[in-house]
Amino acid sequence: MSRSEVAIVTGAGSGIGRATAELFASRGYRVVVNDLSAESLKWVDASPDAQSFLALPGDVSAGDHNAALVEAAVKHFGGLSVSVLNAGMVGTLPWEDPGAVEKFERIMAVNVTGVVHGIRHAAEVMKKNGTGVILATASTSGLRGDPGNYAYNASKAAVFNLVRAAAVDLGVYGIRVNGVAPGPVETGITERLKGLPGAMDEMAKRIPLRRWGQPHELAEAFFFLASPAASFITGTTLMVDGGHSAHAAHFDLRDKA
Ligand SMILES: NC(=O)c1ccc[n+]([C@@H]2O[C@H](COP(=O)([O-])OP(=O)(O)OC[C@H]3O[C@@H](n4cnc5c(N)ncnc54)[C@H](O)[C@@H]3O)[C@@H](O)[C@H]2O)c1
Repeated sequence: MSRSEVAIVTGAGSGIGRATAELFASRGYRVVVNDLSAESLKWVDASPDAQSFLALPGDVSAGDHNAALVEAAVKHFGGLSVSVLNAGMVGTLPWEDPGAVEKFERIMAVNVTGVVHGIRHAAEVMKKNGTGVILATASTSGLRGDPGNYAYNASKAAVFNLVRAAAVDLGVYGIRVNGVAPGPVETGITERLKGLPGAMDEMAKRIPLRRWGQPHELAEAFFFLASPAASFITGTTLMVDGGHSAHAAHFDLRDKA
């Protein structure tokens, strides 16, 4: 791979984003990494590929921060080939919560508006180059409802269709747009479940592969979709979920009938 490949990865302070940034850097990319705080991006200093990273903390729900990420990629690394719009937040939200609408709007601002800003700013540079790949993190939670999770469900459902619509609009410029939809993956977002007795095992039983995913397994999917091996793939979201979304969650009656 040529050293000219440059990527942005948002939400790279931990979990899937960090694993993706590390994988891209280890395979020759230079990477602008984003997360909310400088503290969460300190890991880049200790990386064997430290020279390949530029850390730029900020909130992806702000348009000007997305502009700054693209500007940093161009200014420091000379271009932008791939943008991985991965930052996201969860939030269980009772319908009765008096602050439900504000919390809903915040989740939508990060998980949906953040992706819209990211697409707009990346596309500006990629259009001029006549090539580029934009990737976004959806979720199996965007396919159906989870208890108390309607804001996250709605936001991730939006990502599936944003990917399709952006691919329709940007294909003419040589820009591919795809998503990756993780199922349950052991990251910062799911850390709190480890404190709930039996929760991790209970979830694993609902996954055909009978285990949680690991961040590097998502990173490989992003790398594939960014690569020339995926040159005719656009407008799709790849399920990387151990079969979680393939399961209709019905009882197993095979030994009971
Ligand atoms: N872990 C899972 O089971 C799972 C499943 C489906 C989808 N996802 C999605 O994967 C993506 C990555 O999450 P993860 O599982 O690696 O969790 P994570 O908590 O380890 O990483 C998410 C990162 O995004 C950052 N972030 C949150 N809001 C931000 C903002 N406004 N601006 C910039 N950064 C922000 C967080 O600080 C955090 O470091 C998210 O979009 C999440 O919704 C995760």
